[in-house]
Amino acid sequence: MEVKTSLLDNMIGVGDMVLLEPLSEDSFLENLKNRFDHNEIYTYIGSVVISMNPYRSLPIYTPDKVEEYRNRNFYELSPHIYALADEAYRSLRDQDKDQCILITGESGAGKTEASKLVMSYVAAVCGKGQEVNKVKEQLLQSNPVLEAFGNAKTVRNDNSSRFGKYMDIEFDFKGDPLGGVISNYLLEKSRVVKQPRGERNFHIFYQLLSGASDDTLKKLKLHRDFSKYNYLSLDSAVVNGLDDAANFRTVRNAMQIVGFMEDEVQSVLELVAAVLKLGNIEFKPESRCNGTDESRIKDKNDLKEMCELLGIEQSVLERAFSYRTVEAKMEKVSTTLNVAQAYYARDALAKNLYSRLFSWLVTRINESIKAQAKTRHKVMGVLDIYGFEIFEDNSFEQFIINYCNEKLQQIFIELTLREEQEEYVREGIEWTNIEYFNNAIICDLIENNQNGILAMLDEECLRPGTVTDETFLDKLNTVCAEHQHFESRLSKNSKFLTDHSLPHSCFRIQHYAGKVLYRVEGFVDKNNDLLYRDLSQAMYKANHSLIKQLFPEGNPAKVNLKRPPTAGFQFRASVGTLMRNLQTKNPNYIRCIKPNDKKASHIFTESLVRHQVRYLGLMENVRVRRAGYAFRQAYEPCLERYKMLCKRTWPHWRGPAREGVEVLMADLQVPAEEFSYGRSKIFIRNPRTLFFLEERRRQCLQDLATLIQKIYRGWKCRSQFLLLKKSQIVVAAWYRRYAQQKKYQRIKSATTVVQSYTRGWQARKLLRDLKYQKRCEEAATTIAAYWHGTQVRREYRKFFRANAGKKIYDFTIQRIMQKYFLGLKSTMPSMSPIDKNWPARPYLFLDGVHTELRRIFHLWRCKKYRSQFTEEKKAVYEEKLEASEIFKDKKALYPSSVSQPFKGDYLEISKNPKYQKLSSAMDEKVLLADVVNKINRANGKGTARIFLLTKKSVVLADQKTGQVKASVPLPDLTSVSVSTQSDGFFALKLKEGSASAVKGDFLLSSEHLIEIITKLHRIGATAADREQLNIDISDEFLVQFKQDKVCVKFIQGAPKNGNSVSCKRKNNRLLEVSVPTTA
Ligand SMILES: Nc1ncnc2c1ncn2[C@@H]1O[C@H](COP(=O)(O)OP(=O)(O)OP(=O)(O)O)[C@@H](O)[C@H]1O
Ligand SMILES: [Mg+2]
Repeated sequence: MEVKTSLLDNMIGVGDMVLLEPLSEDSFLENLKNRFDHNEIYTYIGSVVISMNPYRSLPIYTPDKVEEYRNRNFYELSPHIYALADEAYRSLRDQDKDQCILITGESGAGKTEASKLVMSYVAAVCGKGQEVNKVKEQLLQSNPVLEAFGNAKTVRNDNSSRFGKYMDIEFDFKGDPLGGVISNYLLEKSRVVKQPRGERNFHIFYQLLSGASDDTLKKLKLHRDFSKYNYLSLDSAVVNGLDDAANFRTVRNAMQIVGFMEDEVQSVLELVAAVLKLGNIEFKPESRCNGTDESRIKDKNDLKEMCELLGIEQSVLERAFSYRTVEAKMEKVSTTLNVAQAYYARDALAKNLYSRLFSWLVTRINESIKAQAKTRHKVMGVLDIYGFEIFEDNSFEQFIINYCNEKLQQIFIELTLREEQEEYVREGIEWTNIEYFNNAIICDLIENNQNGILAMLDEECLRPGTVTDETFLDKLNTVCAEHQHFESRLSKNSKFLTDHSLPHSCFRIQHYAGKVLYRVEGFVDKNNDLLYRDLSQAMYKANHSLIKQLFPEGNPAKVNLKRPPTAGFQFRASVGTLMRNLQTKNPNYIRCIKPNDKKASHIFTESLVRHQVRYLGLMENVRVRRAGYAFRQAYEPCLERYKMLCKRTWPHWRGPAREGVEVLMADLQVPAEEFSYGRSKIFIRNPRTLFFLEERRRQCLQDLATLIQKIYRGWKCRSQFLLLKKSQIVVAAWYRRYAQQKKYQRIKSATTVVQSYTRGWQARKLLRDLKYQKRCEEAATTIAAYWHGTQVRREYRKFFRANAGKKIYDFTIQRIMQKYFLGLKSTMPSMSPIDKNWPARPYLFLDGVHTELRRIFHLWRCKKYRSQFTEEKKAVYEEKLEASEIFKDKKALYPSSVSQPFKGDYLEISKNPKYQKLSSAMDEKVLLADVVNKINRANGKGTARIFLLTKKSVVLADQKTGQVKASVPLPDLTSVSVSTQSDGFFALKLKEGSASAVKGDFLLSSEHLIEIITKLHRIGATAADREQLNIDISDEFLVQFKQDKVCVKFIQGAPKNGNSVSCKRKNNRLLEVSVPTTA
């Protein structure tokens, strides 16, 4: 079981005495010393803190330390008073348990410092806020005020508390301080009038004289010089390390913070000054005539000043110091006071004045710091009470103080030792009883109502007759002689008869902390605490509100003859109340130990510490702790606290709590020797086990916190997400709505536009239709109207004069036309188509008609002319037309041929006998017969040949003989070449490869070239079996003579031999034909 623990880590010695091995007083002291030498002033015995006074300031009370110990487990860090304070505060805040911090120890052991550390820690860790801070500040600032008035330098402690203080700090349910209540116990008022050697009066006297301004001192009628005041001891008026002047300012400031009004502070200071003045009043004896001594005030100046300060009539006080009035049986008897009695009265007044002032201060502070809210409070009580005191000379005060310490020890025993053992028995835990000293017997010796010392003292004080300290001692000797803790020389017990350390006027008590010898002198007086009524009445008469308040019994209207309760009685009662109060609270112990008597750091006086360890019962404490269990807890809260450490008990355990705890411990595998099961509680032997549980719990809580955080965060994120989603849906819905609206608007406006266009278009169409219809109707109407109009006009035209003009006009026109046509008939030109004559037009308006008539006439004349033609003639003209199509504008010879009729048979071959033979040789009808020149290629000269053309062939025959020279079937003829000029040359080109082509092409010349070629062309055009004859018109063409090709070139030459054409051979390949230029 590996447990991380800082308490055990790096420990000097052992931090918890429970863990000390071996345990003995020596090892205990050794451990304390070891730790003290290493500045470890705190050590635990279980939950009890032992605090060694370091007598120097250690850096262990810093705010960082406060933070370090805050909310930490008690055993987690090294021992510290803060750990105890934190534990107490947290169990008050979290478990609603009232707490009390019991700080015990000798004078100078550091109780007051410890109480202040606890308070400052709690103030630092509890809640904050303006109101809370004010409360805290007031609670803390009550300390300097009470210390100034209640603390004094003693031989043991420079700042010894001379009163007991118990302060209840009240908290609300959150743990924020609400206020507090201070109870004070028995101020050592004798110190006001007398201080033991080497000690001082209460701090406030020195602080006032050192720190108050001159002005204040003047007002208080004081001098800064301590030696001027009898009540101030001079031997240790100035204490090293104590700055009275500065402290005075601190006190004044603290009073202001606590809430004292300025006049209240003034009154308090006046009272302090009055006490000092009172001490200076001295008496001298004055013999009276009756032989008795009377006291007189020596120097009345101080009395006067004091009376001025307190507003008391001087004579009244003076008389009160001289006489004492005793009222008995309704009778007043005045007796004079002798000097001793006067001094007694003076000191009694001073002590009363001061102690009542102190009580008033406590009441006044309580008024300021009391909790305002009436709700239930949680309370943390801090008890800082004077420690056990053993002086050389112990008086009533020491007796009372030691009695109180006995009671505290009793409570400690009650709550820790006895209670612990009893609890084990109660719980059925196996337990071997530990012997311890129970000091109840001593308490009984002191406080027993029948035969207790205090009861005896009271009895003696109240007894009529002469009562002295001696009679009191006698009484004790008789009553308490048998008591084993009471020792007296005069007791019947012979044991002490020879004990010289026990003087006759003393008795000794064996306190739990050691034997203390008490001198009985002053016991009766101090218990009586008598203040002569004359003095209290004189005080009541003072014109000073505070004084009046302090002495209410001085009011003559409330004269009470009953004796006031004795000091012892009062103290016993208040201690009883305190004890009862403490028993209701959860105790936390701080056991303060003083390391040496020299108030020095680093010195560890073993004997002194051993003594304290013994009387504080620390060893027993450790033994009980070790034998027992460090921690116990009822099953229910235990299960509640640790149930999260086991799956079976978390989150709910259904069965009994004990079983739950058993399951839990088994699950955690805590060794069996580490704990025991009681009837209602579990007892854990070792703090480490507890710490282990706490540590596991802390881890588990962290895990749980993480889980809760996780779930919470998850939930938060989820809700956030859902919210976002929802919002997103809303936004989206709105946006969609908006978008759809927009879209709808767009569609709507588009639809409206389309609609408007459609409607416009329909409307326009309708309008058009309607208009059209209307127009139709109107047209029909108009037509009908016109038609009717026409009809009517036609019918009635003849009756209209307006028509006369038109008629005349028509008539005139008719007449003119008639005349024109008749005239034309007589002037008609001849029927010759070539007659260009045509009568002139008589009127301009007849121009068109005139021209048209001329054209018609001409066409008609031509038609007439044509209708006279025979078929032959028609053929001749057709040939002429064809000749025109072939040659017009292409050959210069053509125009001259136009007027020559195509005769065809120029030779009249059938008739001419000369050519009879030739004619008969012809199969076909000769279409053309003429004489042509056949051009000789050798010289260009022509030879006359008869040229015959039938439908099938071209025949060349000798002119003279009529012998056929060549007959070329027309299909062998491919083309005819002619020139553009006015010559009659033409070349008949034969189809290559044909029989006719053997002799070559024919270059011929004829006067009727146009006719020959036209006819050749015409035959070709009409023959179905042949291709169209090509006619090539160019001034240069090739002629095939047998094998050679000769170029025939036509040039324009000057007329040499008249107008004839000459052909010359230029070379083998060129024949040049010179054609005269036609003008
Ligand atoms: N924790 C501490 N750190 C430093 N100094 C301390 C500490 N505790 C005590 N002292 C010193 O010891 C002196 C005496 O302490 P304190 O007044 O608390 O004793 P006490 O127990 O209250 O004595 P008494 O019973 O006389 O009032 C203090 O004035 C201080 O100088
Ligand atoms: Mg103190």
